[in-house]
Amino acid sequence: MRKLRIALTKGRLERQTVALFEAVGLDCTELRNKGRRLILPVGEYETVLAKAADVITYVEHGVCDIGIVGKDTILENGKSFYEVCDLEIGKCDFCLAGKVGGDFYDGYNVKRVATKYPNVTKAFFADKGMDVKIIKIEGSVELAPLLELSDAIVDIVETGTTLKENGLEVYEKIMPVSARVIVNTASMKLRRTEIDACISKLEQAKREAVL
Ligand code: PRP
Repeated sequence: MRKLRIALTKGRLERQTVALFEAVGLDCTELRNKGRRLILPVGEYETVLAKAADVITYVEHGVCDIGIVGKDTILENGKSFYEVCDLEIGKCDFCLAGKVGGDFYDGYNVKRVATKYPNVTKAFFADKGMDVKIIKIEGSVELAPLLELSDAIVDIVETGTTLKENGLEVYEKIMPVSARVIVNTASMKLRRTEIDACISKLEQAKREAVL
């Protein structure tokens, strides 16, 4: 049988994930010196580096047993898998934001909201019973209000630096976000013992890591 395979979100979460693994003695030498390689051994596991939305795809299709991915991506794309643990890394907030001093809720015109997260945005405004026009943007969504494409954005805010340096501010916090461990439904049945051991290790790492 192949090694248990864990899909890791590359970029933002990567450094903290490596710190977690190392906190419980998993050897991350290959991951730290990965170059352009995408599949790397970490201790007894095989890890796969992927973009957040793809982590979910690989886990849903069962080619990866476990995934480490942000709750933001789960809320936007998630369908069928188990979400088993909050790693409490990659902490940030979903926020409604716009130009400093702007009043998003002023006036009766339908507001335009730019975002990488149309499903989350739709649910947020549906909850308020408010009709908005959602504009999907792929990255650097802060550009949209600056270019007058939108009245506001819905995005994740971590340090707030990107907003600040672009003359934007948080209008409203929507919900907190952090990295979660997800598990393929079939793997959970077929490889339960190994998966439980891996989850315990990650839980232990969460307690011991100095991030
Ligand atoms: C995220 C997010 C903000 C920024 C917030 O983008 O979309 O732009 O980080 O972080 P801060 O509050 O610490 O400034 P990311 O860097 O993931 O890149 P992207 O916009 O290209 O998706």
